[in-house]
Amino acid sequence: MPKAAAPRVILGIGGGIAAYKSAELARLLVQQGYEVQPVMTRAATEFLTPLTLSSLTHKRVITSLFAPAGQPEATLASAIEHIGVALENDLLLVAPATADLLAQFAQGLAGDFLTTMHLAFPGPVLLAPAMNTNMWNHPATQANVALLRARGYHFVGPAAGELACGMEGPGRLAEPAAIAAAASALLDKKHDLAGETILLTAGPTQEPIDPVRVITNRSSGKMGYALAQRAQARGARVILVSGPVALSPPANVELLRVETAAQMYDAVMSRLAEVSVFIGVAAVADYRPARPAAEKLKKSVSALAIELEPTTDILAAVGRDKGHRLVVGFAAETGNLLGEAERKREAKNCDLVVANLVGAPGAGFEGDENEVVLIRRGQQPEPVARAAKTVIADRILDAVADLRARQA
Ligand code: C5P
Repeated sequence: MPKAAAPRVILGIGGGIAAYKSAELARLLVQQGYEVQPVMTRAATEFLTPLTLSSLTHKRVITSLFAPAGQPEATLASAIEHIGVALENDLLLVAPATADLLAQFAQGLAGDFLTTMHLAFPGPVLLAPAMNTNMWNHPATQANVALLRARGYHFVGPAAGELACGMEGPGRLAEPAAIAAAASALLDKKHDLAGETILLTAGPTQEPIDPVRVITNRSSGKMGYALAQRAQARGARVILVSGPVALSPPANVELLRVETAAQMYDAVMSRLAEVSVFIGVAAVADYRPARPAAEKLKKSVSALAIELEPTTDILAAVGRDKGHRLVVGFAAETGNLLGEAERKREAKNCDLVVANLVGAPGAGFEGDENEVVLIRRGQQPEPVARAAKTVIADRILDAVADLRARQA
């Protein structure tokens, strides 16, 4: 079926008291010119009537996987409707996203129309959580949120404030205007990286000491994977050369798994001819054991010295052989951030260096958030305030798209 000119949004509504705000959200989305297809969970219909939403959106509100009993002729059509709805829409927005829906999405459960259609939905997903503060702070909910973020899901809110249950704290549904703005930002994002082939390195490397021990570092790979996912969503062909990480590979990205710095170097060099943008996010080991032992080293009472030798600097090698490529590096520093990042930009012939202070709690290597400064030749350093790594990824890619446009 051809797509209508107006962007199409599925508005998924979970069963929480904040569901009453979804009517206002639906109205704002329609006002912005979007086609809005409401999908309610059974519990949501306890808080808000489908009639309200169908009046606002001029659509039949979907509340069930199956046609009502006694309408056998409608059963087949409605049984595959979740696929049609998934494929015909541009954004899946869920507001309120309850703790239960977050858990179902994270686990890939498919017990009703919304969760089944979610599994078949190939586009961006925006979640606006709303729940009691304790439920939001529960490690299970936080783990589900972290998993969904790592898979590239977008979040708006929750806001902090007084909740319907009388508690104060995070858990309030973001304001409908803020949710509508976040939806617009995703829907209107152009395919500004179409035509680019972007190669990223991500994660740590592992340098063997012996067959069971390695030298590695705390890099989680989250920043590199977020960049890969966003670059792909913005139209780029993406090759991700990844050290060992505990993340699911982003969809539609070519993943090359490596362990050591030498393997990462070889993987990068074997593909460099195809690449228009190189982004070195990996925390590549600077040194490796000069002579890894063939057998497991035995424990002894005396001190053990391991001789280290330098690895090849992949970013510097790509910078030396730059051609028309755009080269982006990262600088994780514990002090003199701007000075060190500018020195690295110059030394490694990078167009852009993303500088971040490591050591701030929750940000940097292992956290889901980051706070960076963009360093370009001849431009003022541009600080990017602390935000989710997917949001930071988009800001970095904005700079990449801008630099590519200037190169052209
Ligand atoms: O000099 P430093 O290691 O701090 O530079 C960090 C930047 O260099 C990152 O972009 C990292 O991916 C890259 N790098 C590399 N190969 C190395 C060491 C660092 O590509 N062997």
